[in-house]
Amino acid sequence: MLKLAVLGSGSGSNMQSIVDAIEAGTLDAEIKIVLADFPDAKILERAKKHNLKGMYLDCAPFKTKLEGAAEDRLIEILKSEGVDTVVLAGFMRIVKPKLLAAFPNRVLNIHPALLPAFPGVHSWTQALDYGCKVAGVTVHFVDAGTDSGPIIVQKAVPVLEDDTPETLHARIQVQEHIAYPEALRILAKGNYTIEGRRVRIQE
Ligand code: GRF
Repeated sequence: MLKLAVLGSGSGSNMQSIVDAIEAGTLDAEIKIVLADFPDAKILERAKKHNLKGMYLDCAPFKTKLEGAAEDRLIEILKSEGVDTVVLAGFMRIVKPKLLAAFPNRVLNIHPALLPAFPGVHSWTQALDYGCKVAGVTVHFVDAGTDSGPIIVQKAVPVLEDDTPETLHARIQVQEHIAYPEALRILAKGNYTIEGRRVRIQE
C-alpha cells in the first residue's frame, strides 16, 4: 500500500480525486498527510472533511521554491509519518534536489499540458494562444528541472473552436482527475521500470 503525502497550494481537486479513488477501493494507498504552503488553502479544508492530517508549511522567505529550513522540516515530517511517495497536486513551488534525494523517483507532479509542450504556468492558455488542436495533462516523476521528469501517464483533450482558457482548463481538469489515480495505481502495483526517460509499464 502506498503511503502518500499530498502537497498543494490551492483548491485540492486532484487530492480529492485521489481520496475518492482510495475510498472507492480502486487505489491501494493511504494519505498520511496533506501539506499546503498557504494556511487558508482549500486543500486543507478538504483534508479536514476526510479526517486526514493537514498541515500548513511556512516556506518563507522563499516565494516560488521549497528550500532551506522549510525543506528540512518537510523531509523530517514526511519521514516521521512513514511517507513513501510525495504527490505534488497544484503545489506552486519548485522542489529542490534535497527533497528529491530523500525520495528518489518517488516524487510525482501533475501538469496541465502534454509535456514537453508548455512547461511552467498557465499552460492551457499557452496551448490555446499557440493554436493547438489538442491539449491535455501529464503525470510525471519530478526531476531537478521544471516539469521535465519521466512521464507516467498522459491524457489528451480536444481544443474546441469557442474555447476560452477557462473552458479548456475545465476540460483538462476532468482528465487530471482520472490521470492522477491511474498513475498512482501504476506505482502501487510496482509493475514499471524507469529506463532513461521512459517509464515502461508491464501489463
Ligand atoms: C491543476 O490544474 C494541476 O494540473 C496544476 O495545478 C492545478 C491544481 O488544481 N499543477 P487542484 O488544486 O488540484 O484543484
